[in-house]
Amino acid sequence: MSLPAVAAARPGTAPADRPPALVLDDVHVARGGRTVWSEGSLSVAAGAVVGVIGPNGAGKTTLFQVVLGLLPVTSGRVEVLGAPPRRGNRRIGYVPQNYTAALGEAVRCRDLVTLGLTGTRFGLRRTSAAERARVDSALERVGATGFADRRMSELSGGQQQRVAIAQAIVDDADLLLLDEPLANLDLRNQQEVVQLLGDLHRERDVTIMVVAHDLNPLLPVLTEAIYLLDGHPHHDPITDVVQEDLLTHLYGTPVGVVRTAQGDLFTRATWRDPRP
Ligand SMILES: Nc1ncnc2c1ncn2[C@@H]1O[C@H](COP(=O)(O)OP(=O)(O)O)[C@@H](O)[C@H]1O
Ligand SMILES: [Mg+2]
Repeated sequence: MSLPAVAAARPGTAPADRPPALVLDDVHVARGGRTVWSEGSLSVAAGAVVGVIGPNGAGKTTLFQVVLGLLPVTSGRVEVLGAPPRRGNRRIGYVPQNYTAALGEAVRCRDLVTLGLTGTRFGLRRTSAAERARVDSALERVGATGFADRRMSELSGGQQQRVAIAQAIVDDADLLLLDEPLANLDLRNQQEVVQLLGDLHRERDVTIMVVAHDLNPLLPVLTEAIYLLDGHPHHDPITDVVQEDLLTHLYGTPVGVVRTAQGDLFTRATWRDPRP
């Protein structure tokens, strides 16, 4: 937690004619008979860029699975892009946690992106020229044209993450869910992925929700955060979330917040000096 960040976050744009990207109304979620989180009530406007934070096991991935319609809630109401969650919703682009490990490393990049268009259920089918053009365009948009025909196993972590994002955007999603897309990336690659997310947000006005452990690289693009604290999801503007007391409570370890003379904001872990 030490990257000197960032410019001020831009506010989300929310045209009145678009329903919220996500509404939770007193939602309770359980897995294996145990409550993961409860009393979830929040509304994410279309066009927001939302950090999803909280310690390991707090239920960040679980939230995405609810949004994707993969996990029914125990009680309460969920609305995604103006409708109940449903499996296989093509308006959502999803980059799972540990994406490459989950999908197999031997897959060609271009084939992975094609799956984002043709669905994963029946594997690859013959594609039309129009579909291939869309795949090319998504690969180009993320800067992956140069390695499109290589296998995922031959790529760096940053390159793999670009391909994962290409798959998520190839079908023109209105909502992007990215689960720890910066994990295992070096600082430069983290910043390049964040830059890409910011650019996609500007160009497509897509709503973005991104799970992260370190907020710093994302602060330039985040408008707000959902934080899972003491078993409940909360949702606030990013400037209200980047507060020492809140982050220290959230992570159970001292976190400092620094604002530079230029107005940039960043967080850092703070240690008690062990020397006497
Ligand atoms: N498939 C599953 N079956 C039962 N419990 C699960 C399953 N997946 C996750 N959990 C539990 O749900 C809780 C939240 O997990 P998860 O959403 O993956 O947390 P996070 O992504 O914040 O680290 C954890 O206690 C975890 O053990
Ligand atoms: Mg997770």
